[in-house]
Amino acid sequence: MSQIELHLGDCAEVLKTLPPARVQLTVTSPPYDQLRNYNGVADNWGDAVWKACIKQLYRVTRPGGVVVWVVSDQTIKGSETGTSFRQALFAKRCGFRLHDTMIWKKPSVHFPETTRYYNTFEYMFVWSKGTPIFNPLRDRANKTAGERKRHFGERLPDGRLVNLTPKRRVEGVVIKPHGVRFNVWDINTGGGKSHTDQLGYEHPATFPEQLARDHILSWSNRGHTVLDPFMGSGTTGKMANQLGRRFIGIELDPTYFELATRRLADERGDQRQTA
Ligand SMILES: C[S@@+](CC[C@H](N)C(=O)[O-])C[C@H]1O[C@@H](n2cnc3c(N)ncnc32)[C@H](O)[C@@H]1O
Repeated sequence: MSQIELHLGDCAEVLKTLPPARVQLTVTSPPYDQLRNYNGVADNWGDAVWKACIKQLYRVTRPGGVVVWVVSDQTIKGSETGTSFRQALFAKRCGFRLHDTMIWKKPSVHFPETTRYYNTFEYMFVWSKGTPIFNPLRDRANKTAGERKRHFGERLPDGRLVNLTPKRRVEGVVIKPHGVRFNVWDINTGGGKSHTDQLGYEHPATFPEQLARDHILSWSNRGHTVLDPFMGSGTTGKMANQLGRRFIGIELDPTYFELATRRLADERGDQRQTA
């Protein structure tokens, strides 16, 4: 049975109490500017809070560890705030690599627009402390499965196309039915799609279980510690527990803290019944 440690409080403060290099992976989604106030706890949300949090995340992350920061920008007076990009560049200043800028593509359109194309995605920034652990998910159906790969040339920085040396040429390898995923993830969300339990739907801004699960599988191994400093309903914790990882969750709002506590207790109860 994996361990679960939950804290009620401001993550910028609670993270200071964790020892350095304790965490392999963080999968989290902070408030998006002032889009929601989370029962008032995010009223003072802004640069000072997220900067303090990201600094602490760097301190508590192990070498080879990763932070997945799922975020989007508020649109104010017709212009996106760009806070997400400032957060990603600040993470680099703290010492993280901007390892990948991934996209969570959602099927639904939430905010009908008249002056721009409808938005259907959020960023999933992947920040790493050095070279990360990576267990690639190989579930992308290859359209050219069964055909033979051919790769003879490459383009140089000056624009010239040159032949690869015989050692680097690829020819004749049969393309497998499934390849490694691309970095745009199509993940369904909404009623009946995000969560397998009802409690997950009692929070107003969750990410789907599949998103947390797939990142946990990609960037950590069994027995590792997974953190969510903006725990909400505890989606990351639920998936971490199912996948045999330890979990540390932090939430500032007492109502959501209690919700996550109940959800994770139910989860462990279910596991005991099926064990
Ligand atoms: C986008 S929601 C996270 C939802 C979560 N991913 C889930 O699937 O349930 C952000 C959460 O951060 C909490 N929060 C806001 N400011 C916080 C802070 N300084 N420290 C800890 N939690 C905070 C909010 O109350 C809210 O529940």
